[in-house]
Amino acid sequence: MSNPSLYDYPLIYDRVRTPDQDTFDAIFNLICDYLGRKPYSVMDPACGPATWMAPFAQKGIMVAGNDIDPNMIKAAREKCGDRVLELIEGDMCDLRFAKGPFDVTFELAGTCGMLPGEEKFLSFLKSSIKHTADNGLMLLTVFFQEISEYDQFPWLVGEWGPFAVPPQGNAWLRYEVLSTLPESSIDRVRRVVHTSGVEECQVPLIDEYDMFSWKEERFWDAMAGFKELEFLTAFRYDEPVGIELCGKGRLSGETTVVFRKKAV
Ligand SMILES: C[S@@+](CC[C@H](N)C(=O)[O-])C[C@H]1O[C@@H](n2cnc3c(N)ncnc32)[C@H](O)[C@@H]1O
Repeated sequence: MSNPSLYDYPLIYDRVRTPDQDTFDAIFNLICDYLGRKPYSVMDPACGPATWMAPFAQKGIMVAGNDIDPNMIKAAREKCGDRVLELIEGDMCDLRFAKGPFDVTFELAGTCGMLPGEEKFLSFLKSSIKHTADNGLMLLTVFFQEISEYDQFPWLVGEWGPFAVPPQGNAWLRYEVLSTLPESSIDRVRRVVHTSGVEECQVPLIDEYDMFSWKEERFWDAMAGFKELEFLTAFRYDEPVGIELCGKGRLSGETTVVFRKKAV
C-alpha cells in the first residue's frame, strides 16, 4: 500500500499549514493598505481546507474557493460557514465561479509551483484574472530559482512544529528537495509530516511532487503580456519571522508577488 498523503487528512493539513496570527495580520494589513479598505470578498483558486480563507471569514469577509478535491471543499465549507459565497470543485486553470468577481484573489500556499510549467501557470493566471474585480488584488506565491543554488541532496528546506492536533496530538512538518532538473526548472520535493498522539494517523504522511521555479527575468517577460496587471510588491513569509518585502531583480525561492488588476 502506498504511503498516505497529507491531503487524506484535511484536519492535520489544516493544523500544519494554517498561518499564525502575526503572519495573517501582516498580510491582511498589506491587502487593506493596497486596496484602501478591507476587502468585501476573497477567493482562493486551490483553497484546500480553507487554511487561508478561514481567517478572512472570521473577520466577516465573504469567501469563495475552488479545489480539485471534494474532501477539501467539504472541509472548507465546514470551516467558513455562513461566510461562504461560493465553493466549487474544479481545476484552478479553468475556474467556473458563478459569483464574483472577487476583491482579492490569493494562493499563498505554493500551489502555483505545482502547476507543471509556464503554460499551465499562464492559463491559471488568465482564469484567475477573469474572476478578480477591477482594482482588486492578486497575491500569488510562486517559486523563483534560488540565487544560492543548493548542491547536496536531499537539501533541507525547513522544519516546523510541533503543531497541536486536537484532541491531544502533535504534528511536525518537513520539506526537502530530493533532486533538481535545472534545464526544465523542476525540483523534486518531499514533504513529510510526522505525528504523535494522533489516533487516526499512525504513520508518517509522505508526499513527493514536482515544483516549477521561474527564472525571474522570464517571469517578468511573461507578465508583460498581461496589460491588466500592475506589479505592486513582493514578499517572502516565514513563520514565526513574519513577512519580508523584496524588490524586483532579487526574487529567489518561495515568493509572493502582489498585483493590482487594472481595468483595461
Ligand atoms: C498546497 S494546498 C493549498 C491549499 C490552500 N490554498 C491553502 O492556502 O492552504 C494545495 C491544494 O491544491 C489543490 N489542487 C492541486 N491541484 C489543483 C488544481 N489543478 N486545481 C484545483 N486545485 C488543485 C489540492 O487538492 C490541495 O487542496
